[in-house]
Amino acid sequence: MALDIVIMAAGKGTRMKSRHPKVLHRLAGRPLLAHVLSATASLPDHRTWVVTGHGAEAVESAIAGSGAQSVRQMPQLGTGHAIQQVVPHLADAGTTLILNGDVPLIAAATAHALAQACGGERLALLTIVLDDATGYGRILRSGDPMGGRVLGIVEHKDATPAQREIREVYTGMMAAPTAALRRWVAALSNDNAQGEYYLTDIVAMAVAEGVPVVATHAADETEVLGVNSPLQLADLERRFQRRQAEALLEAGVRLADPARFDLRGTLAAGQDVEIDVGCVFEGDVTLGDDVRIGAHCVIRDARIAAGAVIHPFSHLDGATVGAGALVGPFARLRPGAELGPEVHIGNFVEVKNSTLARGAKANHLAYLGDASVGERVNYGAGSITANYDGANKHRTVIGADAHIGSNCVLIAPVTIGAGGTVGGGSTISQDTPPGQLTVARGRQVSIAGWQRPVKAATG
Ligand code: UD1
Ligand code: MG
Repeated sequence: MALDIVIMAAGKGTRMKSRHPKVLHRLAGRPLLAHVLSATASLPDHRTWVVTGHGAEAVESAIAGSGAQSVRQMPQLGTGHAIQQVVPHLADAGTTLILNGDVPLIAAATAHALAQACGGERLALLTIVLDDATGYGRILRSGDPMGGRVLGIVEHKDATPAQREIREVYTGMMAAPTAALRRWVAALSNDNAQGEYYLTDIVAMAVAEGVPVVATHAADETEVLGVNSPLQLADLERRFQRRQAEALLEAGVRLADPARFDLRGTLAAGQDVEIDVGCVFEGDVTLGDDVRIGAHCVIRDARIAAGAVIHPFSHLDGATVGAGALVGPFARLRPGAELGPEVHIGNFVEVKNSTLARGAKANHLAYLGDASVGERVNYGAGSITANYDGANKHRTVIGADAHIGSNCVLIAPVTIGAGGTVGGGSTISQDTPPGQLTVARGRQVSIAGWQRPVKAATG
């Protein structure tokens, strides 16, 4: 049976007080809408439609490549009007699952269950019981307020004081038989408190036609919370992070504090991994067994092998760190930094697009860019690879066991011979031979009898 998924995302999101469309605001590093799209991706064979309006171009370019198609709603005259725009595109029959682009944490299982509850025959509503139902559409039932038959939904602004006492609310998500949905939305009117076409009015229509209406309760409040303001976005972010942190703790990862942990992507961790407070992980990060991450590190798209230690305040992006390596504190590993086993990178050292072989060390205040560094090289404090001539980048090759003194400039392209030593303060612009000492700096001279200038006597 055909399954169409409609994600409503045309609304303005006034309370975000932002120039950007609400559904593109980020939760855990991804747009709200992307969360909804990935929740539905696993549903059986389906087509997805996103209703766009406010910020349509931006939203449409954000979904390009997701397989979802966009349908514009201009102007935005309510949720029923949004569905009126999309029904001409839907399958003739089957189920239409309607979700909101600003309710990001809907679980795949819940969306699937809602579509199944419809089964192309029933109108299935996702509802939840809230302590404070202010602002929500209330579920009207016959008799018993929880157990009776569903009769309709009344919007908060249209509800009587007695109806406002009802705590079972519509979450904004439903699944409807597609053919009936098409008929119902065509019959909507905007004769209500907000002058909008309410999708929720179709519930009473279904009841009048004798179409069964089923209300499925959402188990978890977090799944159905919408984002309308920065405060709600921040609240949902913390709930999401808490959930991820708990999953990692349950898997054995020792987070110092689950409330001070942020994962904006995926984190695969081995056994006995420890992560101190305030770390942010982005993209895809892999941590081997016994890895320790110090406080306040930002780590994006990185692979850190077993036993490595990342000391506090380090920033890693697109880097690989070998087994047993030590990094930081205050280290910066940029894309293409590949550290071999037992490499040491100390404070205020920046590494970009460079490989360091086993046991190489750069412990203080240094830059390595576009370099190949051999095993056991010792790279002194204050030394840099001058890899950029203003137009092109060039490589520096440092042979195994070379020793680069402090404050050297290695002007690329250049090769430092294996086992050689470069004296501190040297500016190296030609290849150096292996095994020798190379010094390239002004010779030290001392001038005997030199007099310091004295201040001229005045008046
Ligand atoms: C809606 C429901 C309400 C429910 C609540 C749950 C209606 C009439 N009311 O109210 O019963 O309790 O959600 O959060 O449906 N949108 C469009 N085009 C429009 C208007 C809205 O695409 O013209 C989109 C919005 O971007 C949003 C969703 O539809 O994603 C819901 O719209 P919103 O204005 O937030 O509806 P509520 O008043 O919250
Ligand atoms: Mg809303």
